[in-house]
Amino acid sequence: MRQTLVMGNWKLNGSKSMVAELINALKAPATDTPSVAVAVCPPVLFLGQAQALLTDSNIALGAQDADIHAQGAFTGEHSPAMYSEFGVHYVLVGHSERRTLHGESDAMVAAKFAAVQQAGLVPVLCIGETLEQFEEGETRAVVERQLHEVIAHSGIDALANAVIAYEPVWAIGTGKTATPEIAQGVHAAIRAFLAEQNADVAAGVQILYGGSVKGASAAGLFAMDDIDGALVGGAALQADEFAAIIRAGA
Ligand code: 13P
Repeated sequence: MRQTLVMGNWKLNGSKSMVAELINALKAPATDTPSVAVAVCPPVLFLGQAQALLTDSNIALGAQDADIHAQGAFTGEHSPAMYSEFGVHYVLVGHSERRTLHGESDAMVAAKFAAVQQAGLVPVLCIGETLEQFEEGETRAVVERQLHEVIAHSGIDALANAVIAYEPVWAIGTGKTATPEIAQGVHAAIRAFLAEQNADVAAGVQILYGGSVKGASAAGLFAMDDIDGALVGGAALQADEFAAIIRAGA
């Protein structure tokens, strides 16, 4: 039985006061819904503050990206080993904004996935197609290629200690959520693709949906067999909306 996981990706948003307010406001909804796993991914600068605030809570901490190296002459980067010191459990890899704005290739994403796991953390592998690819009917081919690169690098068993987030690029920050039926179709295809290589891994891996998820749309998505939670952007910055998404998963 897969646990529902609701994860907030704050992207480049936040301030010290906002971090304190938001995390404090999320503690009660997270405690009230123990069946739902909750995580927040603030910007790196706020990880220390968030870690302190999250002591004695059941909210996990995540980071939004990682370098592939543990340390060295890599100006501006942050390593999975450093995240461990801040109590980070999850690390997003391959978010579409990293792929598009920072030119991250499938090979780079696969290397990041491996580096995160080697540090004992859980990678959240973000995959998804662009609007053009969606309209051309290429969704499955795109997500399978993105998954294949990781499997070729780390092996299928590595997915047993990972989370997958299907985020259609056309639904991110656009207000256009994929319908539950569209999302379910892709999630089922992802699971079937994995099952060709290992049925147990396929059955166990959490596959989150991301893209304009709101309190009002979450329950319909979570009702689908293969949707195991959400990776939330904009709505994760509003305590009420994020709390509603958490409650929808219970
Ligand atoms: P929005 O929820 O703002 O569409 O962002 C989704 C996302 O990119 C989460 O990683």
